[in-house]
Formats: sequence, C-alpha cells, structure tokens
Amino acid sequence: MSEQQHITKSGFETRAIHAGYEPDPTTGAVIPPIYATSTYKQDGVGGLRGGYEYSRSANPTRTALEGVLAALEEGEKGFAFASGLAAEDTLVRTTCRPGDHVVIPDDAYGGTFRLFDKVEQAWGVEHSPAAVSDIDAVRAAIQPGRTKLVWVETPTNPLLNIGDIEALAAVAHDAGALLVVDNTFASPYLQQPLTLGADVVVHSTTKYVGGHSDVVGGALVVRDLDLAEQVTFHQNAIGAVPGPFDAFLTHRGVKTLGVRMDRHCDNAEKIVDFLSGHRSIAQVIYPGLAEHPGHAVASRQMKRYGGMISFRVTGGEAQALAVCERTEVFTLGESLGGVESLIEHPGRMTHASVAGTDLEVPADLVRLSVGIETVEDLLADLDRALG
Ligand SMILES: Cc1ncc(COP(=O)(O)O)c(C=O)c1O
Repeated sequence: MSEQQHITKSGFETRAIHAGYEPDPTTGAVIPPIYATSTYKQDGVGGLRGGYEYSRSANPTRTALEGVLAALEEGEKGFAFASGLAAEDTLVRTTCRPGDHVVIPDDAYGGTFRLFDKVEQAWGVEHSPAAVSDIDAVRAAIQPGRTKLVWVETPTNPLLNIGDIEALAAVAHDAGALLVVDNTFASPYLQQPLTLGADVVVHSTTKYVGGHSDVVGGALVVRDLDLAEQVTFHQNAIGAVPGPFDAFLTHRGVKTLGVRMDRHCDNAEKIVDFLSGHRSIAQVIYPGLAEHPGHAVASRQMKRYGGMISFRVTGGEAQALAVCERTEVFTLGESLGGVESLIEHPGRMTHASVAGTDLEVPADLVRLSVGIETVEDLLADLDRALG
C-alpha cells in the first residue's frame, strides 16, 4: 500500500494533514511549495513532467489542495476554484444546457440565488425554489426530464434548515437528476454528503475550510469518475481557478479544520444556551436544539451542529440592527467560518439580493458566525449588545 493509499484510509485529522501531498522528492519540503509558475518545461514536445503543462489546467500547489479536499469529502476527485460562486457556475455549465432546470433551496445563500436568477436563467437554465427540509416539496418542484440538479444547502444560510441528504438523493436519483450539496456551513468535518448518496459537494472554501478569513476560494468534490472528467474539462475550459498563493493559504487552513470545528461547536453550544434564556430573544435557530425541526436529521447526518447561529430579537429590525452595531468582540461583517466571531444582519447584508423575492429573510434576524475566541468574552459581548 502506498503512503497516500494508507492515508486515505486514516482518520479525519490525519487526512487533513497528510492527504494529497507527499514531501517533495527533491528537497523533502514538508509543506507544498507555492509553485508561482504559469508554465512548465517540457522534455521534448508533449513530454510533460507529472502532467503539468500550464497553470490554468493544473498547478502542483492546487493539486495538493484538490487531493486533500477529495480525501476529506471521501470523493473521487476534488477541484479548486477562485471562489465558491466560480465553483457553482462551473458545475452548472458542466451539467446543464439551455432548457434544463434546477431545484434550489427556498432559503439559499443570496449569491447562489442571484447566480441562478440573474445569470444562469439568462442562458436558459431555469430554477424553482423548494424547502430543503420538505421532501415532498422538493419532489413536487422537480420537472421530470428537465431537472438536471437538485441543489441543497444543509444547514442553509442563514435560516439553518436541515435537508435529509439520503432522502434527497433518492428523490433526485428517481428523477434522473444529480444531488448537489453545498457543504459550506457544516464543512467535511461535520458531514460528508457523498457518503450519504450526494453526487457533488460544493464549498465556499472562503469559510470553514480556509478558516482564517484571508482568502476567497471554492471547491467541488465529485463521486463519479465520468463526472470528474467533465468537470476537469470545464474547470480548464472556463478557467475560474485559484492562483497558487490562494491554494496554499486554503491548504494551510485545512490542516486544522477538525480542531477548529470542535472549538466552533463548543463555543456555539454555550452561546445557544445563553441566548435561549435571554429576554430580548424571540427565537434561537440552531440545529442542535431539540425543538429545531431538523434536529433529528441533523443528529443522524452531522457529527456536531456547527458554529453558525441565527436568532430573532423581540424588538424587530431596529433592535436587530442595533445589536449588530454594538458588539465589540464579534466583528460586524459578511462571511463566516473564520477563527474570529462575526455578526451580521442578513436582510441588509448577505441576503440583500433576495429582498422582495420568495427567499426574503426576516428583518429581525441576526446571524452569528461563532469564532474560536475565549467563550466568556463572546458571552459578555453579546450580553452587552443585547442590553
Ligand atoms: C453557503 C454558501 N455557498 C456559497 C457561497 C459563495 O462562496 P464565495 O463567496 O466564496 O463565492 C457562500 C458565500 O457566502 C455561502 O455562504
């Protein structure tokens, strides 16, 4: 068994640290070097060394990242992109043609909705929203023969709804469609959709996978070799790839994903306890709560419940905005999944693009991305901000 074959059978943290890369044969470098090169010397015409020809097609720093992502998601092949949306667009253009149709979450990330609504639609790919937690609604939204993708997030952004991946895969496959799971919120540490029947995993690696809010990136991981070949073609033909510096940073983040996620979850659980008893809070939304409608499914398919919490305040939009502006340790900002805690108002910020549509989010909603700081400081900060 080769060293890499051995690693693909190892535990999650071992794979996060070792999969996808063996110390450089020339120097023994333990960490993948940043191959800042656009092209590669050929040993005679067509005599490529290790298959490297031009860095849009492949670059060794990116190859290492793609290898570890495939190993963590337990997929056949991983692909890195310049952003999550670049990954999404490449996947749609790989799998859909004009006249085709996609089912999307009725509370999808605003940028994903905008991509389908304002971009893909103009090229003839239509979409219907359905609640990921409602299998019958997803089944009803499928247009037999036309629907090529059933696209879900679980947990969703920002309402943290849960879709049953196994059941959704069965519904999609019955209709001859692929199940795509955006695994950004859970990360592969908490959930591996491909092992539950999904065909493609999407990531904004900008979030937990990178983990340090210092790089934008995206990824696809696929289960099937034929699809992998088609994505390989489109990744190169479209060219929305990350540079080697970005691939390096993302890969550096991946190595600590497991320990970071456990701390994100520890802190989130304590904050959920605190918020649940607070007089200014109308509702805490967290899949780890027994009263969350997706709790049973989340308990089955996730290792823990993640670092994202949404809550609604009793004082309406004005209070929600005030809370977002008053915190000091939680930084007011978009994005999520970094080591630092972030707070935001989805209605005015990340989800402004769904205002006035069926996907509009409540105005009294606040979203937290709980970081890995000292939890007592996070609790004191929220206590102050809630007044
Ligand atoms: C769930 C989800 N999917 C996809 C994306 C898009 O990723 P990116 O911002 O890296 O393009 C985001 C961004 O916030 C997201 O939250």
